[in-house]
This record gives sequence, structure tokens and C-alpha cells, in this order.
Amino acid sequence: MRDTVAVVTGAGSGIGRALAVALAGRGARLAISDIDPVGLAETAERTNAHAEVLDVSDRAAVATYAATVKQHFGHVHQLYNNAGIADGAPSILDDGYGSFERVLGVNLWGVIHGTKEFLPHLIASGAGHVVTISSLNGYLAQAGLAAYCTSKFAVRGFTETLRSEMLRDGHPVDVTVVHPGGVKTNIALAALAAARARGETVTREQEARTRTYTDKLLRMDPDRAATIILDGVAAKRPRILVGNDARAIDALVRLAPATYPRLANWWGKRMFPPA
Ligand SMILES: NC(=O)c1ccc[n+]([C@@H]2O[C@H](COP(=O)([O-])OP(=O)(O)OC[C@H]3O[C@@H](n4cnc5c(N)ncnc54)[C@H](O)[C@@H]3O)[C@@H](O)[C@H]2O)c1
Repeated sequence: MRDTVAVVTGAGSGIGRALAVALAGRGARLAISDIDPVGLAETAERTNAHAEVLDVSDRAAVATYAATVKQHFGHVHQLYNNAGIADGAPSILDDGYGSFERVLGVNLWGVIHGTKEFLPHLIASGAGHVVTISSLNGYLAQAGLAAYCTSKFAVRGFTETLRSEMLRDGHPVDVTVVHPGGVKTNIALAALAAARARGETVTREQEARTRTYTDKLLRMDPDRAATIILDGVAAKRPRILVGNDARAIDALVRLAPATYPRLANWWGKRMFPPA
């Protein structure tokens, strides 16, 4: 990584922050961004990075940002499309369009914007790498997570298509899709805070579910996740599964592609019994 220029979006918290700190530790030169200036400043202090507040869902802002980073460093080698949000709704039937617009705006359009705006610079570097953070919900669909699953399946399709095109056209850009299982971050609690900030009522049951989800399912330390991701990137692996949960669910979905939704619903009822 020494002298590699790496761009990390959503670096103000969680996996993005851990990636930034680990990349800095491996000698990379860093451009970090986040929509949250406070979290971003904390990461910047720990990494000596070029830091800018950026909303990845804003196409014009990402275009300007990519040009600024290229001008600042001269080259750009690696892009970590990490920024993401979660947003649950009980069902597609009862939900409006809001959660789809919000989640796809960040998780899918953010990845498309970042990739398209940085790709010419990554190709020009002669040794580019696009790394996209999907999820185990990039291959496991779950009731109550429609917008998130839609975004993470789509991100996988986008990233794997990019890889095919880079191979077909002989461009010097490796491409990796990452599917983390549960990582101990703020993502679920941040979704509740965002709902409150929009003036929505958060019920006690929603709050309790989110706490259970965070405590029981988000278990891996983000620094460990970052090590697994960066080791996989160094080995140029096209697909990285992070954690035993991600590997077990990958096997389940392959073994029982038609029946896993029943299993997932059964497990969901046990994990989150109705109030
Ligand atoms: N934590 C997990 O268990 C887990 C599992 C699978 C995948 N992921 C994915 O990992 C990525 C990082 O999530 P995390 O768990 O570290 O969550 P996190 O909430 O700790 O960090 C996400 C960061 O993205 C930033 N962000 C949100 N909207 C943004 C926007 N519009 N523009 C720029 N930045 C924005 C947030 O401010 C935050 O700093 C996400 O894509 C998430 O979907 C997380």
C-alpha cells in the first residue's frame, strides 16, 4: 500500500473509519469523506488524511470531489465505496417510497457516482482497484429489509459487471465486492436516529429490535473487518466474505435457494418475537 492513493467514502464511522486507519497504517495516502463532519474530523485526526464533507448521493458533488482529489494527489489508485445507510420497514406492501429513495440514493447511487467519477483516474493510474461494500444482504433477502436488500443485491450486480468490463476491455483496474456479516458499528442505531430527525415516531418495539439486532448480530470488531478486507484487496480477490455468518449464509443460500426465505422467516421470529 505504500504511496498508494486510496479514497474511502463514509469514513466518519464504523467500517469506513477502520479501513481509513488501517490503510494509513499500511502506508497509503488517503482521501476520506463523509456526510457527517464530526465523525469525519475524528477519523482525519487519526489518519492525517485529506478530508472533505461529501454526500455520495449528490452526483455533482461527487464529480467535483473526484476532480479535487485527483488534483490534490496527482494519481488515484483505490476507491472504497463504503458509505451506506440502513432503513427497515415492515413490508413492501405497507411502506411508501421514502425508504427506497433514501437507501438507494446512498447505497446504490453513491456507489455508481463514486465509481463513474473516479474510474478514469483509476485507469490512468495503471494499477487501479474499485472496492465496493455490499453485505450478506447482497445475497440473502430478508423480510422487513426491502430497500437495504435491493440496494446491496444491486451493488453486487454493478460491481461484478464492472469487473467483467475491466477484464473484457483490458483496463488495469481490479474490482472487489465485499460482503460483510455483522460488524459492530452504529449503522442500525443511526437509522433510528435518522428516522427521529425526520420527525417519525420510533416505537419502543422498533427500539428494542434495533438494540437486539445491534447487540446480538453485529459482533465483529470493525478493525478485524478492515484487516480481512485489506488482506483480500492486497490478494486481488474479486469477492470477500467477512465473518463466519457471511460464509454460513452464503452456503445456505447456495444449498437452498428456493427454501431459504422460510428458514430466514422462522429464524427472524425466534430472534425478534412479536411484542
Ligand atoms: N455493520 C455491519 O454489520 C454491516 C454489514 C454489512 C454491510 N455493511 C455496510 O458497510 C458500510 C459501512 O457501514 P457501517 O456499518 O460502518 O455503518 P456506520 O453507520 O458506522 O458508517 C456509515 C458511514 O457512512 C456515512 N454516510 C451515511 N450517508 C452518507 C452519505 N449520503 N454520504 C456520505 N457518507 C454517508 C455515515 O455518516 C457514517 O459515517 C455500509 O455500506 C453498510 O451497508 C455493514
